[in-house]
Amino acid sequence: MKQQQGVVVVQPKYYATFNQTQPPSYWDYENAKIEYGSEEPYEAICKIGRGKYSEVFEGVDNRNGMKVVLKVLKPVKKRKIRREIRILQVLKGGTNIIDLHDVVRDQNLKIPTLIFPYMENTDFRSLFPKLTDNDIKHYIFELLKALDYAHQRGIFHRDVKPQNIIVDPKTRTLKLIDWGLAEFYHPSQDYNVRVASRYFKGPELLVDYLYYDYSLDIWSTGAMFASMIFKKEPFFQGNDNYDQLVKITKVLGTDGLKQYIKKYNIKLDNAYNGLLLKQKLINIFLLSKTRLVILCSLRQCSFMQFGCYRFIIKNVTL
Ligand SMILES: Nc1ncnc2c1ncn2[C@@H]1O[C@H](COP(=O)(O)OP(=O)(O)O)[C@@H](O)[C@H]1O
Ligand SMILES: [Mg+2]
Repeated sequence: MKQQQGVVVVQPKYYATFNQTQPPSYWDYENAKIEYGSEEPYEAICKIGRGKYSEVFEGVDNRNGMKVVLKVLKPVKKRKIRREIRILQVLKGGTNIIDLHDVVRDQNLKIPTLIFPYMENTDFRSLFPKLTDNDIKHYIFELLKALDYAHQRGIFHRDVKPQNIIVDPKTRTLKLIDWGLAEFYHPSQDYNVRVASRYFKGPELLVDYLYYDYSLDIWSTGAMFASMIFKKEPFFQGNDNYDQLVKITKVLGTDGLKQYIKKYNIKLDNAYNGLLLKQKLINIFLLSKTRLVILCSLRQCSFMQFGCYRFIIKNVTL
């Protein structure tokens, strides 16, 4: 542990120094040269999504009739565009990671568009309520494989949530998409806490701890995992970022949070004054080794479900 501006900075247990073992050309996306292909073969057919950073269309590659997705990036900083493209290139072909097929730009407006293969997808709002214990075990394991693939290569996703996961129940395949907020991890670097969607933000983001790492993705996975098990989506539903931490303490209690703040010498925002009333930890096992938060109400949890947690822990090295 090392002290920086009063705040304690720790390194993750695994993959902390991976990028240091690579040449700058691997992680220095700001200076990466992007080769744009021709937009000509691709035709947009209908809009399937619209986010803060992009408009997404279903389309076709007219050279071979392949169904594709065109992610037309909204005007954002060049740095962010380069980052998403570079990370998708590094992770191409990775386990359960969406494959970047092409990067094109229209000649006049120079708007970059990412091309991906189209994946069959079932909306999580209809999928989650139907998931059996076995399905949950399967999909969480597949998600962890994707994350481990990225973390091993020095990259964290920072926006894990159901909308960024594509599941095809017919083939039981899962793809982790939307690497728009992903970053390369460098030890002791401070990162922007304005990442991830509110319900999936880990406590580190909510207490403005800038030196967070890969384990942020595991928190988001845990929040999703809990929503699947307890059939409550989202599981932690805050009305704003402050209330988000309050909702978390209503389940996990305040003792652990207090210890965490003390250990890392974090100063809580005054806005929390009077909000974080003492709460008891309820029915939770927190596996410190993996930081995979397992929420398990002893009353509601069947033996089968408990078995599935052990399966995940046994099979994944994080
Ligand atoms: N390869 C794909 N196949 C099918 N649907 C996709 C694919 N990529 C994205 N989508 C759909 O488009 C939505 C937005 O894409 P995403 O990459 O998450 O963009 P944004 O950064 O705007 O959130 C996704 O939530 C998903 O529903
Ligand atoms: Mg998205």
